[in-house]
Amino acid sequence: NATVEMENKESPKDDLHELLQTLERHVSPPVVKYGGFWVPEMVFRQILSTQKNFKAQGTDIILSTLPKSGTTWLKALTFSIANRHLFTIDQSPLLTSSPHTLVPFFEFNVYWEQENPDLSNIPSPRIFATHMPFELLPDSIRESDCRIICMCRNPLDQFVSYCNFSPKENSEPVPIDKNFDMFCQGIHFYGPFWDHMLGYWNAHLENPRKVLFLRYEDLKEDITSQVKKIAEFIGFPFSLEEEEQGLIDHISGLCSFQSLRSLAPNKTGSVNGIVKNSSFFRKGQVGDWTNYLTPAMAARIKKLMDSKFEGSGLMY
Ligand code: A3P
Repeated sequence: NATVEMENKESPKDDLHELLQTLERHVSPPVVKYGGFWVPEMVFRQILSTQKNFKAQGTDIILSTLPKSGTTWLKALTFSIANRHLFTIDQSPLLTSSPHTLVPFFEFNVYWEQENPDLSNIPSPRIFATHMPFELLPDSIRESDCRIICMCRNPLDQFVSYCNFSPKENSEPVPIDKNFDMFCQGIHFYGPFWDHMLGYWNAHLENPRKVLFLRYEDLKEDITSQVKKIAEFIGFPFSLEEEEQGLIDHISGLCSFQSLRSLAPNKTGSVNGIVKNSSFFRKGQVGDWTNYLTPAMAARIKKLMDSKFEGSGLMY
């Protein structure tokens, strides 16, 4: 457990500064190595706060992804499935709020400003999201009955999406060539990719009732079966009547790329004033990497994944 104890100290800020000095770091991307993972320096304090203070409840649902793996989509779907008894599709809060408002990130929202906010008044099931690897999750998440849904994506598309991501007005996407070597060394936000995947994959194998492992590509291919899978996993299976009413299609439709992208709350505003909501919707396709990566680059990533995933049963 990589939790850092900061109790009984006079100045947590100084402690944090001191701790940061001891960690391996990179300027571009701005990451520090913590518990074997390259976490963004910007949210290092928030990760520590989450580890130290988050107390999971058995009914919580935790959505875990690497950035650019379809987090926004997973948030919209899970929120809609878990809360469908509260409103009809045409009254959905997704029509007026971003999925990132409805399902906050630990690092970028819940613990962004506060070290230990009171979360006890949030009605259950509480749904939170994180990009933290399984190994860095707070003990209470791993030990309680709460559910974890991990969604992963083909590394080639995830990498291309990450490079094309321009979070702020006028910010330039990151040049692919410059980033490629770093990605292959595992030095990217919340990397290495393979260790992040393997942590959740192994946890899923160990306890499939606790950790659901989804793939972006499977959702693209057959959203109906994946929506049902999510619903069953979180304990809100669709009834026959709901299925006959077309509720699965309605939820899938509302959360589709075209639909979400066209909604007003996703065209304006930002997550925390840092990342504009519209930047979470680019192409939403499988295989867009072919437009950006050379066959040699793709082969290098494929070889790397094959060797890292060997014997694990995980394939990409
Ligand atoms: P692309 O850049 O390949 O288009 P995240 O939400 O984790 O930041 O991931 C963003 C990626 O998911 C982007 O991929 C984005 O276009 C895609 N995406 C966002 N909403 C989607 C949806 N409803 N369906 C499918 N893909 C979606």
